[in-house]
Amino acid sequence: MLYIVMLAWQEKNEVIVTKKFEENGHQIYLGDALEVLKTEIPSESADLIFVDPPYNIGKRFVDFHDKWPSDEEYAKWAYQWIDECIRVLNPRGTLYVMTSTQAMPYLDLYIRKRLTILSRIAWRYDSSGVQAKKYYGSMYEPLLHCVKNAAEYTFNADAIKIKAKTGAQRKLIDYRKAIPTQYNTEKIPGNVWYFPRVRYRMDEYENHPSQKPEALLERIIKASSNEGDVVLDPFAGTFTSAAVAKRLRRMSVAIESQEEYVKIGLRRVLGRHEYKSEKLLPPIKSYVRRNENGKRIKNTTGELFHASSQA
Ligand SMILES: C[S@@+](CC[C@H](N)C(=O)[O-])C[C@H]1O[C@@H](n2cnc3c(N)ncnc32)[C@H](O)[C@@H]1O
Repeated sequence: MLYIVMLAWQEKNEVIVTKKFEENGHQIYLGDALEVLKTEIPSESADLIFVDPPYNIGKRFVDFHDKWPSDEEYAKWAYQWIDECIRVLNPRGTLYVMTSTQAMPYLDLYIRKRLTILSRIAWRYDSSGVQAKKYYGSMYEPLLHCVKNAAEYTFNADAIKIKAKTGAQRKLIDYRKAIPTQYNTEKIPGNVWYFPRVRYRMDEYENHPSQKPEALLERIIKASSNEGDVVLDPFAGTFTSAAVAKRLRRMSVAIESQEEYVKIGLRRVLGRHEYKSEKLLPPIKSYVRRNENGKRIKNTTGELFHASSQA
C-alpha cells in the first residue's frame, strides 16, 4: 500500500511542502525535521530514535548549508528537536544522538537534565585523506546513548556480543575466580566502537557527504529495539537507519529535507524504482571488482574493510 499526504508550512515567507510516502510499516517524510516531528509524530510512538543531525561544520547537503552563525545558535536549534524527540520517545525507549566533538558538550549538558545518559560512545574510524599537521586530527565521532527510564529499557546484550580477545584467545585461565575458569570468549562492546567509514567501493555506498555505515546502525538497532518496534530518524540522509531497521524486521519513520536524498530512501527502503518519471538507480560506479573470469565480485563490507567490528 502506498499513499502520499501533502502538508505545508511557512518558512522565510515561502511555502515548503512536506510529502509523506509509506509502505509496509516504513514511513518517509520529505520535509523539515522539527516541523514534521511537531505536526506528524504522535507522543511516545517511537521505541528507538537515532539522530545524526547536521554538525555545524559547513558541509553541503544539496540546498542546505550546515553552518549556524554561532555554537549557541546551533545549540538553540538542537534543543528544539531534542525536546520533540523526548516527547515522541516511548517511556521505555532509547535515544542515540550524534554530533561533532565540539558541539557535543552543549547537547550533553542539555540532555543529561532530561534523560539518563547511559553511555558516551566514541565511534572511531580509520584515517584517510589529509591529516592535521599542527594538532591532533579528529578520528572519532561522539554518540550519546540515552533512555527515559533507567530502570526499564531495551538492551539486547546477546544480540551484539563480540569476540573477547586477550585472555580468551590465548585460552588463559582466570585464577581470580573461586573456581578457576577460562576467560569468556565473547563480551558486550565497550564504549569505543570501531567501524570503517563508508567508502566508494562498498556496496552500501550512496552519494552523500556523511553516510553512516550499516554496521554502526546494526549494532544500535539490534541492541536497543526488538522486532516490530518503531525506529525513528529525523535526519535520514541516505536512510541507513531505515534500511537496516527494515532488514532487521523493525518499522521505521524517517525524515529528510532534501528531495535528492529522499529518492535514495524511496529506493533503499520502499523499494521504489521510479520517482516523478525519474528512474531510481544505485550510484553508478566506474570501479567494479571482477574475478579472473570477468564476473563481478560483490564488495561486502567485511571482505574489504573489516566492518564487523571487534570493538
Ligand atoms: C549527517 S546527515 C545524516 C546522514 C545519515 N545518518 C546517513 O547515514 O546517511 C544529516 C542530514 O540531515 C538533512 N537535514 C538538514 N537539515 C534538515 C532539516 N531541517 N530537516 C530534515 N533533514 C535535514 C541533511 O540533508 C542531511 O542529509
